[in-house]
Amino acid sequence: MLESVTKNIFQYAAQNRVLNKAARRWGLKFGAAQVVAGETIDSAMKVAKELNDQGLVCTVDHLGEFVSSREEASEATQYCIDTLDKIAETGVNCNLSLKLTQLGLDIDYGFCLDNMKKILETAKKHHNFVRIDMEDYSHCQLTLDMLAELRQEYDNVGTVIQSYLHRSLQDVKNLKGIPLRLVKGAYKESPEVAYQDKEKVDENFMAIIKEHMLSGSYTAVATHDHHIIAKVKAFAEENQISRDQFEFQMLYGFRTNMQVELVKEGYTMRVYIPFGNDWFGYFMRRLAERPQNVAFALKGFFSK
Ligand code: FDA
Repeated sequence: MLESVTKNIFQYAAQNRVLNKAARRWGLKFGAAQVVAGETIDSAMKVAKELNDQGLVCTVDHLGEFVSSREEASEATQYCIDTLDKIAETGVNCNLSLKLTQLGLDIDYGFCLDNMKKILETAKKHHNFVRIDMEDYSHCQLTLDMLAELRQEYDNVGTVIQSYLHRSLQDVKNLKGIPLRLVKGAYKESPEVAYQDKEKVDENFMAIIKEHMLSGSYTAVATHDHHIIAKVKAFAEENQISRDQFEFQMLYGFRTNMQVELVKEGYTMRVYIPFGNDWFGYFMRRLAERPQNVAFALKGFFSK
């Protein structure tokens, strides 16, 4: 009961435009620095390099939510291009994750599509890959529509499918051959479109993982859930799916020992590194996911 109240509060805060905008001026607060790799590209590159040195590969995400003007979306586009250039310049093993609303999806679909093409051209020049994060349900179909358009011209782009959505198994079937990151889902969604029960979400998570892995498509399983990770390892063994056909992904600052252990066992482990001053929504979603993260954040708050 208490857990679901806290979850709702953090999910509400994550989606609150005023709080998100205000937090940009605060600097990394309340322990956010433990899970956000600083505010600049250079700080993100430094973290990526350190993780590479431990055998982990990375993806970076310049945080940004509630973009409402073309100017902001163009700035975010340029930031993604600069980040790809910086990755190439520093030579880190790292790709790019981004959100379409940052690039103007809520302003104009065509404008956002053009911004994505500029980013993918740069990624192609550097032989790099771009992952479109999946946002809330209201953006899901638009994201998949844009992915389909982009894939006609670029093969260095993929997206994310959330197992809490009723539609996800069918989406994964439709996306055969496209590199997907599979996750449980981080937004507050209604029972009309999403499973509310953890067991159903987990069951569907394994169903979409199996579907994508068996179809021979490159699969990124993004979770901190050791039960799921153990099941994926066993499934890959049983079905002779080689380790270069899938990878695990976790967020920066979470289960760091397990991240390194997976590398030692011979799996590819990619760490998602968020950076930038628009950290609030991201941080609130992490607090909503796991009550223990609140203690973690408070520790950070009092140690500041
Ligand atoms: P979950 O939170 O369900 O935990 C399951 C169990 O695992 C817990 O009960 C506990 O036993 C263990 N556990 C979990 N975290 C732990 C910790 N820190 N320490 C110890 N034990 C722990 N979402 C989305 O909607 N769109 C997206 O694009 C993305 N992208 C994305 C990328 C990456 C790399 C990751 C890892 C996640 C995302 N997500 C996401 C978020 C995702 O949807 C989901 O909300 C979170 O990963 C939380 O779910 P988990 O599967 O990690 O385990």
